[in-house]
Amino acid sequence: MAVVTNDEEVSAVAKDDGSLLAEFRELWAEADNLWDQYQETPAFHGYVSADYYAVYQSLLRLEGTAATLLEWGSGLGIVAIMASRMGFEAYGIEAEPSLVEHAERLAQFYGSAAQFAQGSFIPEEFEWDLIEGDESQRTLIDIPAAYESLDMELRDFDLIYAYPWPEEHTLFRNIVRSCGQKNALFLSYDGREGMELIRSHDP
Ligand SMILES: C[S@@+](CC[C@H](N)C(=O)[O-])C[C@H]1O[C@@H](n2cnc3c(N)ncnc32)[C@H](O)[C@@H]1O
Repeated sequence: MAVVTNDEEVSAVAKDDGSLLAEFRELWAEADNLWDQYQETPAFHGYVSADYYAVYQSLLRLEGTAATLLEWGSGLGIVAIMASRMGFEAYGIEAEPSLVEHAERLAQFYGSAAQFAQGSFIPEEFEWDLIEGDESQRTLIDIPAAYESLDMELRDFDLIYAYPWPEEHTLFRNIVRSCGQKNALFLSYDGREGMELIRSHDP
């Protein structure tokens, strides 16, 4: 069963956490500045930022439900940084080395313990099946997986967050289903649909 977040309900919770939200607004502004500065560079060609406020609201709902979070394609690391500040044990995997460097710098500056690794979030053991809809659009498929450098496996994470390209939702879900833990939560952002939360083994 897919669970779509209820914005009204979450806004009430979000209002209770003003100081963290104020800090996050500075973080989001810094991410916007980096985008303005570097958007024409090759490292940013595959990067688009999610609606961080919407992701924050979803994370608020998940506090206490999940302990470990992994941001797939973490870019500037904003979601992993927020999650770490909110009490999750948070990690990010990103293909572009310079984005990992930005994420690590931002994490340090904002007092976040989020850890980042350069490489692919697609586990080596994932078996592609085009019949099952495993299509990639702009996700890089020819770089080694990064789980070893985090000393973690995909199944160690309770909650996986990603912002898939429009044609890649099925691929991302299939990776979580086949390589994630049995009841992993998969939180995704889509430019048109907003946030969606599913359990990995929901039909
Ligand atoms: C749409 S952006 C999402 C950025 C951020 N997670 C967010 O939600 O705002 C996708 C990111 O995935 C990265 N990426 C693409 N293929 C990847 C792969 N196989 N493994 C890790 N990162 C990848 C891109 O460099 C880009 O930073």
